[in-house]
Amino acid sequence: MCGIIGIVGSRDVTERLVDGLKRLEYRGYDSSGVAVLDKGKLIRQRAEGKIKGLEAKLKTDHVDGQTGIAHTRWATHGVPNETNAHPHFSGRVGVVHNGIIENFLDIRTELKHRDFRTETDTEVVSHLVDEALGKGLDPKDAFSESLKKLKGAYAFGVIIDDHPDHIYCARSGSPLALGVGDGEMYLGSDAMALAQLTSKLIYLEEGDWAILTPNSYEIYDLDDNKVEREITVLTGGPAMAEKGNYRHFMLKEMYEQPETIGRTLSNYIDEYRLAANVPAELNFEEFDRIIIIACGTACYAGMVAKYWFEQAAGLAVDVDIASEFRYRKPVLSPKSLFIAVSQSGETADTLAALRYCKEAGVKTAALVNVMTSTMAREADIALPINAGPEIGVASTKAFTSQLTALAALALAAGTSRGVISNEAQKRMANALIKTPRHVKQALRLDKQIEAMAFDFSKSKSAFYLGRGSQVPIAFEGALKLKEISYIHAEGYAAGELKHGPIALIEDGTPVIVLAPFDRLFEKTISNLQEVASRGAHIILITDEEGASHAASMADNMIVLPTCDHFVAPIITTIAVQLLAYHTAVHLGTDVDQPRNLAKSVTVE
Ligand code: G6P
Repeated sequence: MCGIIGIVGSRDVTERLVDGLKRLEYRGYDSSGVAVLDKGKLIRQRAEGKIKGLEAKLKTDHVDGQTGIAHTRWATHGVPNETNAHPHFSGRVGVVHNGIIENFLDIRTELKHRDFRTETDTEVVSHLVDEALGKGLDPKDAFSESLKKLKGAYAFGVIIDDHPDHIYCARSGSPLALGVGDGEMYLGSDAMALAQLTSKLIYLEEGDWAILTPNSYEIYDLDDNKVEREITVLTGGPAMAEKGNYRHFMLKEMYEQPETIGRTLSNYIDEYRLAANVPAELNFEEFDRIIIIACGTACYAGMVAKYWFEQAAGLAVDVDIASEFRYRKPVLSPKSLFIAVSQSGETADTLAALRYCKEAGVKTAALVNVMTSTMAREADIALPINAGPEIGVASTKAFTSQLTALAALALAAGTSRGVISNEAQKRMANALIKTPRHVKQALRLDKQIEAMAFDFSKSKSAFYLGRGSQVPIAFEGALKLKEISYIHAEGYAAGELKHGPIALIEDGTPVIVLAPFDRLFEKTISNLQEVASRGAHIILITDEEGASHAASMADNMIVLPTCDHFVAPIITTIAVQLLAYHTAVHLGTDVDQPRNLAKSVTVE
């Protein structure tokens, strides 16, 4: 949510700042801007909309200097126009910020004599620092004094007009990394922004602030003590995910799934022993409850895992959305295992829930795609999914890899707790090993689903139904459709529909029914008939056996390969992803960067 980058060096920085912004655009794309110090003067260029707008402006009206900061915005306070775009200037000070200053109204009142020009919370920061400089404090003290007045979440970069070789920065609640170069220093919201500049990164800790010059960096903690922080050396180079021949990142990422699931499996399943392979510190015999906390799509992965852990391991599982969990008074026991599920490893609410549990003495694990993320660093156990960079804002390959890893963890729990037989363990491991092949077969339905999506795209509203472990996939199918096509959609447990939502079914209302031929198939088909008899247009997503039983009841059918029911949620996911994608393409929306969304939500 908002991306920031800064460079202090000895050659011009604007081009590299804008390149870094492009790598951060997944964090928000309402507006962007760059500010540099040119011969001791603050100058900037800003534009509403995506970064290409900023690039176009820079072409005709270039700004450059050897010290600079830049920002791509996801608006929280103030509409996304050029005035509210960062960097903000007040007097001698320029600032870029990611996060929310919660007490900005109080500070604005305190500084009412100053000229506020934007509707943002951020502008108070540049005013505070400039005010402190005006009182005669040196830049270092002015910055650290200003930080003490702020409440909320932030990652900042600050430049000051007559201090051309310095960037001041700080983090609290929002991620920020420093990059160490040769005669240059950098700051950025994540490793992806800095990877093309340097491989040496320092992840600031909560409350840290720092001063960067071309040849040095100094880091201070919350109490202004000078501290040392470890340098992490990035491996794997600056690779930025490319779209290749695909029309969208989302399409590419969906097609990568046989490979990405395979990579996840190689971490968690021993193909020779046909058994789960999990870190030794994860001893499921120690726990009597699992708490899975996440947001958005990642939370639906957690919901599927609840079915798996209960069934395979007899373990009680609570699944909750992080923004609720963190403000409840959750009852925790020392025998609970907390699992944060997060593609980015940075989502503010999920991170807060992790910290809450850690503080309460609960063992914490983070299932993440970014192993350099804050969650991976702070959890007791970091569990990678290895899906590779996911650029499309709507999560696809990360979701199926989260499911795959969670299935393997449930299998490990079932085995170590002696709940499943040796034979069942081998059957389930085998089912997981075959998943990449089944996903590949499911992807072959692409053209059929594309054709189906043409009529579907004319719908105003749609329902997704499922039972058992298909319920969260119904939620995910509806979420994918909403996110990228802007068609209203809801997912429901099929048995729940008649308790209210069925009132919304009328002639032609599309209902997508997820029903592999499992022990709940007949129940789901009864629910299908309840809506069909009220005029619903049925799209049945099933497997070969299910199709042979229920073909006559569906208006359209997507027939997935037959697989073990244990892994069926992973396979049905492919169908709902393709349906949402092609519907959005028919409607001409911005599939990879849908309106109002951001990939990494680092504010609450
Ligand atoms: C945002 C993204 C979703 C994602 C959610 C959680 O809303 O648009 O795709 O599922 O955040 O993100 P995380 O990185 O924690 O998985």
